[in-house]
Amino acid sequence: MSRRERHHTELPIPNGWFAVAFSNELVPGEVRRLHYFDEDLVLYRGRDGTPRVLDAYCPHLGAHLAEGGRVVGDTIRCPFHGWRFDGTGLCVEIPYCERIPPKARVRGWDVVEKNRMIFVWHHAEGKPPSWDFPAMPELDHPDWTEPRSLELKVAVHMQDMHENNNDPVHFQFVHANAEIPPSEITFGEGGRYMRMVGKSQRVTPFGTFETLLERDSWGLGLSAVRIAGIPGAGLLMYSSTTPVDRGHSHSRWLFTVTKNLVDLAGEQFIQDLSAGVKQDLRIWENKVHRARPVLCEADRYLADFRQWARQFYSEPA
Ligand code: FES
Ligand SMILES: [Fe+2]
Repeated sequence: MSRRERHHTELPIPNGWFAVAFSNELVPGEVRRLHYFDEDLVLYRGRDGTPRVLDAYCPHLGAHLAEGGRVVGDTIRCPFHGWRFDGTGLCVEIPYCERIPPKARVRGWDVVEKNRMIFVWHHAEGKPPSWDFPAMPELDHPDWTEPRSLELKVAVHMQDMHENNNDPVHFQFVHANAEIPPSEITFGEGGRYMRMVGKSQRVTPFGTFETLLERDSWGLGLSAVRIAGIPGAGLLMYSSTTPVDRGHSHSRWLFTVTKNLVDLAGEQFIQDLSAGVKQDLRIWENKVHRARPVLCEADRYLADFRQWARQFYSEPA
């Protein structure tokens, strides 16, 4: 095991809401095999349109429900002997038996579909959801473009990806920004929510403006970045980063801009942002996680972030 691989065990998998699919990846009746939170899972969309997530292995003889399992109504039928499970994981039918053994159930996960993504609640101790996150009105608004999407699988713990948001200095070094943007950080909603606002001068097709880069986070991995301050125009980048395991993450991004911007700067914005994310990749995929980093006095946002992030873990990190 390399030194880097050993570091993968340093941080556990956090608790919270994490996207496991884009909504448009799954039509009613479709079944998918998932691996997140170091768990094998099955995702299916019932005929009623509701997505459901269960542990993958049938309690009977252990077949993987996504490997040949079929949606029947709002349930999933095991491919091996036809036992059917509902969205809570309870066995509701054994086709060749009257009595259903009380232990015939798998774990059902809490699922929410919002913001064009399917989210699952992960909690290391199995506790139910204790907080919520808001809908993004821009993602379904007639004045905004149909969102574009981007996916990234990265060999790094997801906290180290999120930490990037609170690292204004790296914008100068990794993303070639002219200066370190002056920033401000605030917390709210029982501490789960964090907002970081950075000021910068932006040259746009409508003139030069003092713009605000607003980054909102709801728990670890779920963020919205908005550019405000250009009159009549707006840009949104929404993303969820999901732990695959302790050393791997899967990010999903949605980009949308107001329609008046699309031909002028919208495409450029989307390209710049996805190029920006790719600049981070080389750092992420080769770094180790420093549980006790040596910080300097300019790193107070990073210290705030580490402090904030601690609440999303069951075991002490
Ligand atoms: S293994 Fe699933 S029904 Fe037998
Ligand atoms: Fe970055």
